[in-house]
Amino acid sequence: MGIETQSQPSPPAQAGNWKKGIFISLFIVALSFLYAFLRYNVVRNVPYEQIPLFISNKVFALSSLIIIGSAFLLGPLAGFFPKTFLPKLYLRKPLGLIGFGVAALHSFISLAILNPSYYPKLFDASGKLNFVGETSLLFGILAFAVFSITAISSIPAIEERMRPEQWKRIQRLGYLVYFFVLMHVAIMGFKGWFDPASYKYGLVSISLISVLFIIFVFILRILAGVFKKKN
Ligand code: HEM
Repeated sequence: MGIETQSQPSPPAQAGNWKKGIFISLFIVALSFLYAFLRYNVVRNVPYEQIPLFISNKVFALSSLIIIGSAFLLGPLAGFFPKTFLPKLYLRKPLGLIGFGVAALHSFISLAILNPSYYPKLFDASGKLNFVGETSLLFGILAFAVFSITAISSIPAIEERMRPEQWKRIQRLGYLVYFFVLMHVAIMGFKGWFDPASYKYGLVSISLISVLFIIFVFILRILAGVFKKKN
C-alpha cells in the first residue's frame, strides 16, 4: 500500500526500498515490545508464559499502527521539510505493506485468543461479547477489510492495470482505515483512561498511546494541507 498524500505516486517497491522499510519496522516492533514488556510483564506481573501470544498481540497491534502512521507522516513531512523527506517518499509503499502484514498478525492472534479469560472487559457474564466488545471488534474488522483493498491494489500485477489517479484514490482509503482503527482502540480503551491505576510509573496504556498517535498524524495531515494551500 503506498498511502498517497503527495501529488506523485510512490515508485514500485524494489528490493532496496524494502531493506530500509524492514529495518524501520523492526525498530518500531522492538520499541513496542520493550514498552509492552515493561508495562505488562514487569509492572503488572503478567506471567512470562503469556509473551508468545497475549503480549506479542499488543506489540503487533501498536507497531502496525505506528508503521502505518509513519507511512502517512512522510507526505506531510515532505511538505514541511522537502529536502530531507522528499527523497524518502518511496518508503510509503514498503511501510504501508509491512504495516498491513503486522496488522494481519494482530488480527489472527486476536481471533485465536478471543475469549473472556484473556479479554474480560470485552465479554459479559454469559460469555458473549458485550457492547464494547462487539462495536470495537466491528471497527477492527472494518479497518482490516478496507486495509486489504489498499494492499491488494498495490500488488504490482494489479497496480499496473490501474490508472495512476484510480490507484491513488484507493490509497486514500488509508485514512478511513486509520479512522476505523481510532474507533476500534478508543471504544476498547476509553474506560481505562480514567482509572488512575492505569498510569502506574507513568506507563500509559497502549490504547491511549495509539489514540494520541492517530490524532497527531491527522493533525499533521491537516496542517500540511493548509500549508500547501497557502504556498
Ligand atoms: C488494521 C487493523 C487493526 C489495527 C491497526 C489494530 C490495532 C489495535 C490496537 C492499537 C489495539 C490496542 C492494544 C492495547 O490496548 O493493548 C488493539 C486491540 C485489540 N484488537 Fe485490534 N487492530 C486491528 C484489527 C483488529 C481485528 C481485525 C481484530 C479481531 C478480529 C482485532 C482485535 C483486537 C483485540 C481483541 C484487541 C485487545 C488486545 C489487548 O488488549 O490485548 N483488531 N488493536
